[in-house]
Amino acid sequence: MKKSVIVTGGAGYIGSHTIIELLEKTDYNIISIDNFSNSSESSYQRIETITKKSFSKLNIDLCDFAKLNSALHSYENIIGVIHFAAFKAVGESTEDPLKYYHNNFESLTNILKICESKKIKNFIFSSSCSIYGNTKELPVTEETELQKPESPYGHTKKVGEEMISFFCATNPWFNSILLRYFNPVGAHMSGLNGELSLTKPSNLVPVITQTAAGKNSLTVHGNDYDTRDGSCIRDYVHVSDIADAHVKALDFLVSEKNKSNCSIYNLGTGKGVSVFEAIHAFEKVSGLKLNYKIGPRRPGDVIAIYANNDKAKKDLNWTPKYNIDDMMLSAWKWEKNLKPHP
Ligand code: WQD
Repeated sequence: MKKSVIVTGGAGYIGSHTIIELLEKTDYNIISIDNFSNSSESSYQRIETITKKSFSKLNIDLCDFAKLNSALHSYENIIGVIHFAAFKAVGESTEDPLKYYHNNFESLTNILKICESKKIKNFIFSSSCSIYGNTKELPVTEETELQKPESPYGHTKKVGEEMISFFCATNPWFNSILLRYFNPVGAHMSGLNGELSLTKPSNLVPVITQTAAGKNSLTVHGNDYDTRDGSCIRDYVHVSDIADAHVKALDFLVSEKNKSNCSIYNLGTGKGVSVFEAIHAFEKVSGLKLNYKIGPRRPGDVIAIYANNDKAKKDLNWTPKYNIDDMMLSAWKWEKNLKPHP
């Protein structure tokens, strides 16, 4: 019987790109679980258009354990779970922390209960560099001391990692990898899939492409930071490189190469890029002059953060392929595909 892999949040930005890579690079049956709370079902059509392959789709809220459990009852030979499903808007989480605590902890608990009952031993958790906070130690390694989370969103990622770590300690048969994404940006290089915010985006790259498309206006949140050009520095990493890392992490677990049953990996390029450098990269690849204004600093922003990715390179054999120009070009190609046809 063919082996299956569950992808929670499979209709989302990183989830949909990961399903594309799984369908193209493995022969697992893919079971996507998504309630479209921050995505749309159209993601699934785009995945099938790009890959010419189909997969199972369960429209279920992971907070509804009874429904989740009965829907998965008939599925056998599930060898792994990649857990993306979570609310992830930093700003919204500070306005409605309980919405984030309930959703992100309840859904994680329920999917771990499924792993426990169905003995699914391989688990990959979508974590975030936001748990490092405003660290002075740059580039950050997986051993860098975690600062106090800057938002309830970041807090749910930090506690989520701890929940999995304790579950692993009690269940030595269970194998998990925690992937700390830096800043996932860009779109599938075909331009046929990308980030689709149901609400006005707050992240830099979609605001840049929407501004270029005349649908938004970019404000640079502060140009008086202690950095090389006064703007904040981040480690932007192409979403397809992030997706590729999940395929490699799953292979690492399935082939039982992991020495610990709860391993952490940074997913970043190792290169810090400032806001102004990101804007200039976009202008270079698009040939457009981007209008923007300078505004006040945004509360919660860290000044600079970028990864030491040696551990993922060594253990997972993962090397990001795309540079900031590729990220901007793919994001712009996707934005133009999104624009209503004239
Ligand atoms: C990047 C830089 C802004 C918008 C967050 C989460 C992280 C991950 C990615 C989920 C900052 C500046 C932005 C704008 C701007 N989320 N900016 N004008 O905050 O680094 O990371 O999203 O996985 O966990 O923390 O990303 O793109 O919002 O900001 O100047 O209109 O761009 O101030 O310096 P961030 P971002």
